[in-house]
Amino acid sequence: MKFDDKGLAERCADAEREAILADPGFGLHFTDHMAHARWTPDKGWHDDAIVPHAPLTLSPASAVLHYAQEVFEGLKAYRRADGSVWLFRPEKNGERFQRSAQRLGLPELDVDDFIASIEALIRADAAWVPTPHDGGEESLYIRPFMFASEPFLGVRAAHEVDYYVIGSPAGAYFASGVAPVSIWITKTYSRAGAGGTGAAKCGGNYASSLIAQQEAAENGCSQVLFADAGSKQHAEELGGMNVFFLDADDRLVTPPLSDSILHGVTRSSVLQVAADLGMETVERPIVLDEVLQEIRDGRIREAFACGTAAVITPIGVFKSDAGEFHVGDDAGERTLQLRNHLLDIQYGRAEDTHGWTR
Ligand code: COI
Repeated sequence: MKFDDKGLAERCADAEREAILADPGFGLHFTDHMAHARWTPDKGWHDDAIVPHAPLTLSPASAVLHYAQEVFEGLKAYRRADGSVWLFRPEKNGERFQRSAQRLGLPELDVDDFIASIEALIRADAAWVPTPHDGGEESLYIRPFMFASEPFLGVRAAHEVDYYVIGSPAGAYFASGVAPVSIWITKTYSRAGAGGTGAAKCGGNYASSLIAQQEAAENGCSQVLFADAGSKQHAEELGGMNVFFLDADDRLVTPPLSDSILHGVTRSSVLQVAADLGMETVERPIVLDEVLQEIRDGRIREAFACGTAAVITPIGVFKSDAGEFHVGDDAGERTLQLRNHLLDIQYGRAEDTHGWTR
């Protein structure tokens, strides 16, 4: 697919766009266009185009509104000092989008078509890719998504599916920027169970996390940490991010991948960057009671959340029914080292030894 731009006008005046790019926030503003393609069993993917970013017309009987047959992705376009615009490992998002679609009974999109749709949108909306402020992390957040648009109330995989890519200029995900965030450990709610959809990037996972997120907010925390649904003893992941700890031996520890954990592109990049920087990395089950005791004893020195939106965000404190467990009031040294190195690769300030950027 080519996702041709049909010569559409800009929606937003230059001055208005520049004002937005000066302070974009996260997820609030959207570019002029979007990529679109449609799927039906007889035609496969077709009608690919870049069209104006505008409200969608959907039948109230569209299956997605009833049975949540939907998947999405999140990646970013980075503007470098020379003005050029770069993507970071988009094929990883494309591969995960295929796995998510497969899990949700949606048609798979070729990774080449996934990347073509994103590149076409960025070409149309290049003026919307922010220049990072001094040491900042401004970028164009790109949100591809696919959903069951067929008007049908029977429960089966839909025969009409729409795919869109929208763009949203973004600063830091957390309003506090790179300041450490507080994490609520919920024992009330689970995010995903064995054999479920936890590894898929589907809206339903995020919908089911919202009540726990509310519990976190009621306890003064900005994110929630879920334990595994079976034993409730092991740390799995946050509402929309993976989690890492730095232990007393300078080892970076994170839960192993499973079918109940999102296979984060940032997570895998952090593991590689850490190894490149000479750190030992360990993927192993993390017993919550043990890790909290180690924080209390000062043996866990740093912790952070990571994801495309969050980049690497330090965690200052964990809270649970058992009390408060303080990691630190400032971003840890290793956390900052990893964060800066990852951003340097993404913005072309460090050598891209793995061929991650294009
Ligand atoms: C991302 O990091 O791209 C996500 O989709 C997570 C969400 C919290 C914005």
